[in-house]
Amino acid sequence: MSDLAERDYFSDAAVAQDPYDYWDQVRSRGPVFHEPHYGVVAVTGYAEVQAAFKDVESFSAVNAIGGPFPPLPFTPSGDDIGEQIDAHRHEFPIFEHMVVMDPPEHGRARSLLGRLLTPRRLKENEDYIWRLADRQLDEFIVNGRCEFLAEYAKPFATLAIADLLGVPEQDRPQIRRNLGAGNAPGSRVGALDHEPVGSNPLQYLDELFSGYIADRRRTPREDVLSGLAEATYPDGSTPTLLEVVRPATFLFAAGQETVTKLLSAAVRILGDRPDLQALLRSDRDLIAPFLEETLRMESPTKVDFRLARRTTSLGGVPIRAGTVVMLCLGAANRDPRKFEQPHEFRLDRRNVREHIAFGRGIHTCAGAPLARVEGRVTVARLLDRTTELGIDATEHGGPGHRHYAYESTFLLRGLKALHIEFNTGPS
Ligand code: HEM
Repeated sequence: MSDLAERDYFSDAAVAQDPYDYWDQVRSRGPVFHEPHYGVVAVTGYAEVQAAFKDVESFSAVNAIGGPFPPLPFTPSGDDIGEQIDAHRHEFPIFEHMVVMDPPEHGRARSLLGRLLTPRRLKENEDYIWRLADRQLDEFIVNGRCEFLAEYAKPFATLAIADLLGVPEQDRPQIRRNLGAGNAPGSRVGALDHEPVGSNPLQYLDELFSGYIADRRRTPREDVLSGLAEATYPDGSTPTLLEVVRPATFLFAAGQETVTKLLSAAVRILGDRPDLQALLRSDRDLIAPFLEETLRMESPTKVDFRLARRTTSLGGVPIRAGTVVMLCLGAANRDPRKFEQPHEFRLDRRNVREHIAFGRGIHTCAGAPLARVEGRVTVARLLDRTTELGIDATEHGGPGHRHYAYESTFLLRGLKALHIEFNTGPS
């Protein structure tokens, strides 16, 4: 075999379609490996990824999203580049958002989310999500088939976050449309309609939420947005308008695509594995471990990046300050030192909850509880409302000959489309 580990992870289309063989090859060179194209250190070992997440002194999150792109806005100099990072922080992509912040700024930004993600709000949101799942299924269930991403997963994920943030009901159809999640059949476009959001959905959302929060600061009401508008930092100081808007905006960015990818992976596995589907149909308690194993096997966030703030070592491998470190979550979740027979989907995997699909440490996913609810509700209602669910063979080939197309991005793992068919049986 030609050396797969030498391939260019960032641009190789075959690796994007199936990164797992590539990662196995890279791991066979060691859990921490200097990849040859961009000077990036690829970390594929579970223990090593975990260690890097936890060591916030040695590894900055400033490049968490872009990794080596764009290149660093400075030339690293010396064994501690902390001051250089701070001086150039504003030149990194999405520098305003918490995911790329380091302590102490990160702690302040994340504290505002605590005001939003209270147990009570999450419970109200879950009640809405159960209703939403049925509304979404109602849009196509009589057809006996659907393209699952466009007709279910995308609008569902968008509307679930809109509800969590307290976006008024009447504004939600336009947000759905503007974020590319389509129109409900028969819906009309209304006052919030906007130029197509195009390549900058974050700016659209910033503007939208600035409007909401400014309004609630002038005229508080009994709603979630007012709670957010009046939130203060732990030291009692009041955030600026944008400091409140940014965490809200980021929830959309972080939670839409990832959840869409999780839901479509789960439904693809249900369709491809009638044996598992039958087990879940007979015992709904198996849905939770099914989703965890899906997150492990098809981690929606394939990789996450860090920048070595100081010269250090990881898994015994020296790393110079200024090195871009790629934490391969999808690889760590299939590390045979951690997960027995890692390429097998096992419903009874003892340590499945130790997967690292939601990251670890201070940046661990703030939306994991919501993602899990969205997954659980979706699988439960799909099984409740169908008697049989399968993959559309005319689109994806028959059993044993399936072909699926995955998004060709180095960051996320997700299907481009998923065509399914189902029977609903006697009503
Ligand atoms: C299956 C779905 C999801 C996956 C796989 C996922 C994955 C992740 C990962 C790996 C991180 C850590 C990033 C890092 O350390 O650099 C993260 C952070 C984050 N996620 Fe998620 N996420 C999902 C859904 C969501 C949802 C639904 C929301 C919001 C409602 C959300 C909000 C966030 C936020 C705000 C952060 C940043 C936290 C911080 O920097 O402190 N995520 N997510």
